[in-house]
Amino acid sequence: MRRIKIAMLGCGGVAHLYLPVFKYLKEAQLVALVDIDEGKAKHLAERYGVEKVYSDVEEAASDPEIDAVIVGTPPNLHAEHVEVCASSGKHILCEKPMASTVGDCQRIIDACRKNGVKLQMAHMKRFMRGNQMVKSIVDSGCMGKIFMAECHWDCAVPHLIGTYRETEEAAGGNLQDHGPHAFDLVRWWTGNDILQVSASIRIVHPQRPTEDTAVVVLEHENGMVSFYHMTRVSYGREHWQDLYRIYGTDATLVVRNDHHFPTTSLESPEIVLYRPGGCIQRYDLGHPWNLDDTVVQNNPFYNQLKAFCECILNDTEPRVTGEDGMHVMEAVIAAYVSSLKGIKVKLPFREDVDLRELFREIKERDGKNLKYDYTIDNLPKPAVSLKAPLYAFRPPRTKEKWSDEEHGMIGEAGYDALTTSLKRSCICRTRAASTTGTSERRSWRCKAEDRVELPGGLYSPKSGQLPYEG
Ligand SMILES: NC(=O)c1ccc[n+]([C@@H]2O[C@H](COP(=O)([O-])OP(=O)(O)OC[C@H]3O[C@@H](n4cnc5c(N)ncnc54)[C@H](O)[C@@H]3O)[C@@H](O)[C@H]2O)c1
Repeated sequence: MRRIKIAMLGCGGVAHLYLPVFKYLKEAQLVALVDIDEGKAKHLAERYGVEKVYSDVEEAASDPEIDAVIVGTPPNLHAEHVEVCASSGKHILCEKPMASTVGDCQRIIDACRKNGVKLQMAHMKRFMRGNQMVKSIVDSGCMGKIFMAECHWDCAVPHLIGTYRETEEAAGGNLQDHGPHAFDLVRWWTGNDILQVSASIRIVHPQRPTEDTAVVVLEHENGMVSFYHMTRVSYGREHWQDLYRIYGTDATLVVRNDHHFPTTSLESPEIVLYRPGGCIQRYDLGHPWNLDDTVVQNNPFYNQLKAFCECILNDTEPRVTGEDGMHVMEAVIAAYVSSLKGIKVKLPFREDVDLRELFREIKERDGKNLKYDYTIDNLPKPAVSLKAPLYAFRPPRTKEKWSDEEHGMIGEAGYDALTTSLKRSCICRTRAASTTGTSERRSWRCKAEDRVELPGGLYSPKSGQLPYEG
């Protein structure tokens, strides 16, 4: 079988999610890594046995060996990188959010169309087995007519401050980051396009230039309405809340993904169908006995890449199109506009909006009413201090040795202690608190020199990230 030769653009967080699955893909081969930070690319090249490393996207695009690229750079660069690669005939798997403006989404679609290359949007949540099960339940018709859906997505991630996800340059925020996934899932599950958007957006954390809190109401085709509650200022749960409810005239379906990380966990998400008369049906996805088979079956990045390669090999329509990506980005931007202007915004929404300006206005207007006066160094302190030094849970290293190291791993026990303390919303005083942002549930990479004391979360303000799923 012909194998699609792929290059990864951007060797940050999301690359750590893609690279491990290549060894299972018989349809693809990873041939090059690209990052302006060449050290990052080289590090991953060594780890995953990739021969070619580029520090420039144009240079990579001119490599004739490369058939396709995964665009995993920050969203404000997607359009530029897609144009460069598509014009060299490379097929495109583009990370969400598709771009920071609707105009750039259109540039991406146009560049791929003009050059006759495939464009698949990386809405990987469609490739999660639990979400596919939800789709088949809704499609079966057993829920009757779907009239409403709701999504709750919240987490405590102050460590994202200063990263591209929250810079003015990328013009993103929590809704831009996760809204595309949530809007896309609800639209895909129910088959109802978005017609109108209204929203209230806030920037709660004073150090944030972009939005961290959103309540959005979408009106869809067929009279369906959906609403979304999303915030990055939430201390109630161990990692994040990732919950959907879908309401049909004959049944209600609840889908909870919070307690496992879909790229690594073998656990089934919680999928429960409630019907009249107290009838409750639980869906357990189960898994095979063999670990490799389980990875292949569960991993959304594997399944997404496989689908991408298949659409190139068989010359078929991608499972998630550029139009899918643009539709949800229009809704995200419409939500920001709705909040600022106090209006409902209809789709299609093709206005060019300067989000940086818009966020400044939102901050100026709503910030006056928000009396929060905390910074990363001055967060409110909870009453109880658990004081769980992480070095106590580490594998057999001495404390001294650990503190000399740059990085280390928190073992399973450390993980459990951490999550327990987070559940209790206690302070954890720790010497080591950052992660790669994409690390597996049970192996967090830590920076040793940081000492951070914060409620509800452990992190390194400068360099660290808690496990975070975009
Ligand atoms: N679906 C998911 O679960 C998921 C998870 C994480 C990230 N993402 C998406 O992936 C994209 C990247 O996110 P991330 O978390 O990996 O970001 P990141 O900041 O960790 O990594 C981005 C990388 O791009 C590199 N880069 C920046 N400018 C570049 C340029 N001009 N040329 C080449 N490389 C350049 C940076 O050096 C960095 O290594 C975003 O669109 C994000 O939303 C998706």
